[in-house]
Amino acid sequence: MTLTPQWLDELRARTSLSTLIGKSVKVIKAGREYKACCPFHNEKTPSFTINDEKGFYHCFGCGAHGDAIRWMTDQRGLPFMEAVKELAATAGMDVPAADPRAAKRAEQTKGLHDAMGAAQSFFEDQLGGIDGGEARAYLQKRGITDATRRAFGFGYSPDSRGKLKTALRDFGDPMLVEAGLLIDPDGERDTYDRFRGRLMLPIRDIRGRVIAFGGRIIGSGEPKYLNSPDTPLFDKGRTLYNIDKASPASRSTGRVIVVEGYMDVIALAQAGFGEAVAPLGTALTEHQIERLWKMVEVPLLCFDGDSAGQKAAIRAATRALPLLRPGHSLAFATLPSGQDPDDLIRASGRQAMEAVLTDAEPLIERLWKHEVSSAPLATPEEKAALKQRLRAISDAIAHPDVRAHYAHEFRERYDALFFARRDAAPQQRGQGGGNFGGGGQRWQRDKRGNWKPPIAPAGAEARAIGASGMEQRLLRAILAALLRHPGQIAPHREMLSALQIGDPQLAQLLAAMISLSFRKETVETQALLTILGQGELYNMAKGMLRADAFTLTPDRISTDPDRLSRDLEEAVRVMAQGPELETALVEATRRFESDFSEENFAEQQRIRALKADHDRRLAELAQSEDIV
Ligand code: UTP
Ligand code: MN
Repeated sequence: MTLTPQWLDELRARTSLSTLIGKSVKVIKAGREYKACCPFHNEKTPSFTINDEKGFYHCFGCGAHGDAIRWMTDQRGLPFMEAVKELAATAGMDVPAADPRAAKRAEQTKGLHDAMGAAQSFFEDQLGGIDGGEARAYLQKRGITDATRRAFGFGYSPDSRGKLKTALRDFGDPMLVEAGLLIDPDGERDTYDRFRGRLMLPIRDIRGRVIAFGGRIIGSGEPKYLNSPDTPLFDKGRTLYNIDKASPASRSTGRVIVVEGYMDVIALAQAGFGEAVAPLGTALTEHQIERLWKMVEVPLLCFDGDSAGQKAAIRAATRALPLLRPGHSLAFATLPSGQDPDDLIRASGRQAMEAVLTDAEPLIERLWKHEVSSAPLATPEEKAALKQRLRAISDAIAHPDVRAHYAHEFRERYDALFFARRDAAPQQRGQGGGNFGGGGQRWQRDKRGNWKPPIAPAGAEARAIGASGMEQRLLRAILAALLRHPGQIAPHREMLSALQIGDPQLAQLLAAMISLSFRKETVETQALLTILGQGELYNMAKGMLRADAFTLTPDRISTDPDRLSRDLEEAVRVMAQGPELETALVEATRRFESDFSEENFAEQQRIRALKADHDRRLAELAQSEDIV
């Protein structure tokens, strides 16, 4: 029986509340309202008021509050439907007849739930019985404990076309077909069991009722998993495996982990991560994302590090964009390539899994990395194309504030990637803001996030660093200083990344050092060396660290990190300016020679002076033993 809100409003409007209440207690008119001694608590002066217009009663003494229906249920003690029927009779309204279709649907649904429950018991019994031996062995081989087996309701479907059909025959074929338990080939031939010879996993709704099954083949074969078809109980795109247990678990951990497979959820639960769910073999749908957001604001999506897994991550990220709203996002954890959480936990334990989860990246980071690495960024056109792709992403976000922040942050990252040199050190330019030329080539990160040195500019209009002996010396001194104080790499990363180093080996060493500076543990020289490995880079680094390799000796190491940081910054800046100033001077001279104007002469002289200053400072620094 379904009573519409409109019908109930009509019922309330046609009921005089003061008359109704007046049948049980003495009611006095007081202005536009009525008063009475409250029937819900003991009192001598009336604090119970009735408002006929609004259809509510309220007691200022005890807080009792309600409408006509509430009066009948609370004061008279009637069940809801009885209360409604009695009020309707007084008001002269017909109670709508029960909708026969809705009633039938409700009955049918109840039947389907019962059938699924019976099937679940049947499969569980089979797993425990003689037919279940192979399946039990398989579970054992996969390290599933008895407790896990019971918690997740593992079962076994016997390798037969009719055992389930026979066991559940009281439900009748049509119901079992509708529940997806039997297959009806064409209406003429006989129906038969859908799941045969499989390890059975019940899929439950949020209330814990079995609504579908996944059946895994024992050992190898195709298909690996056979799932229930969509039924009146089961809509694959709206269901998340294990939501019944993950939802309460997420309330205590504040986290929800989304993985790809059934067995991943189960392995996680067995390792103590009870808050994991999985979609059922398809990409996350909008419904599933919304469902996850009901549990926590930022669900953690866990994908394989291989290319298929990363494609899936981007697909999920893209799908979430139109749905984003304040506070709600996704985070992305990346597994070692080729391992699912089940594999990882078995191979490396719970801590390894925890580490993967801790390293999760925010949605914006994941999207940024993907776009930066999905196409080359060498030419101006390619760089502009990146901007366009980023724009398309922020445009896909429906919420205006979230969209504005994405657009802003993408713009900042984009500018930092291509224009950082100008932004980072405007004060390094001579007065008048003269452009010293210099290639805008930037270091880039490859797909794995490692930095790669820029390709030397074709025209080589700005020569690389290290051409002069002095520069070479300073460069080596700087690298040695960074090797001794790896903690100094990260704060100067932008500046260091912009350096165009002539010597490919030194360039490679710096690239490796910058790349490693993203890891926490590399603030120690020894750790840095260990990670560099045993190749040429390692030998070069070792050589640089030898005290007598350069005039810069380790016993002069500055112990003040601020001082060290400033010195390094100046050294890098001076070194980087060499090629820039040289180019600028060549250009200024050319301009002056083609147009002997006062202005061009002054500019050429200015740059010449800057260059002279620079050379002096470079010489000082290269001789200096104070850098490190
Ligand atoms: P995987 O192929 O990654 O399997 O499928 P898995 O979870 O690692 O399974 P195990 O460890 O070999 O037992 C991931 C998910 O995709 C769905 C299932 O939901 C599975 O858990 N799937 C996979 C299917 O629905 N059908 C299939 O044939 C294969
Ligand atoms: Mn697996």
